[in-house]
Amino acid sequence: MTTLVAFSGSTRSASFHTRVLNSLPTYAPAGMNIALFDLSDVPFYNQDLEGEALPESVVALRAAVAEADGIVFAAPEYNGSYSALTKNTIDWLSRPMGQGVLREKKVMVVSVTPGPGGGKRVSEQIVALMGFFGNTVVGAVTASGIHEKMAADGDVVTDTELADQLRAALAAF
Ligand SMILES: Cc1cc2nc3c(=O)[nH]c(=O)nc-3n(C[C@H](O)[C@H](O)[C@H](O)COP(=O)(O)O)c2cc1C
Repeated sequence: MTTLVAFSGSTRSASFHTRVLNSLPTYAPAGMNIALFDLSDVPFYNQDLEGEALPESVVALRAAVAEADGIVFAAPEYNGSYSALTKNTIDWLSRPMGQGVLREKKVMVVSVTPGPGGGKRVSEQIVALMGFFGNTVVGAVTASGIHEKMAADGDVVTDTELADQLRAALAAF
C-alpha cells in the first residue's frame, strides 16, 4: 500500500485545488491511498510554539508527512507565488532546522488557475524548494482555464489531457 498525504493551499469552499485533490482517487493506481489533510486548524508558524507548546494540529501535520510515502501539494498561485497557506505548511514541515519531516519524500505538485497562466510560476518555485530539501518531484501538473476542465458541480475533471497528467503523476510514485 502506498500512502499519500495531500494538501490544498486553499480553504475556499469551492477551491479548484481541493476539488482536484478530491478527484485523485479516480486516477490512482491500485494499492494507493490518498488522504487529504485539513489545514484549517494549523496556525501561522511561530517558533515560540515549538517544543511543549506545539499545537495538536501541527503534531498531526508532521506525523501525517512522516508516515506518508509521498506528498501532494495542490498549490494556488497568488501574485505569482505561494498562497500563505501553502507556504505556512512548508514552513512548519521544514522545522526544527535539519530535522523537518519534509525531506527525501516523493512529491507531486498540482497548480491550476482559471486564467491563462496555469500556475506555472508557483509550480516552478515549489519544485525548486522541494529539491532544496532533498525531495524528489515525481510530477508537476499545471492547468489553465480550470473552470472549463472540471464539471460545474462535484470533484470531476472533465478534460482528458489533465486527467491523463494526473494519472501519470500518481503512477510515478
Ligand atoms: C490573492 C490572489 C492572488 C492571485 N494571483 C494570481 C496569479 O498570480 N496568477 C493567476 O493565474 N491567478 C491568480 N489568482 C487567481 C487564482 O488562480 C484563483 O483564484 C484560483 O481559483 C485559486 O485557487 P482555488 O480555486 O483553489 O482557491 C489569484 C487569486 C488571489 C485570491
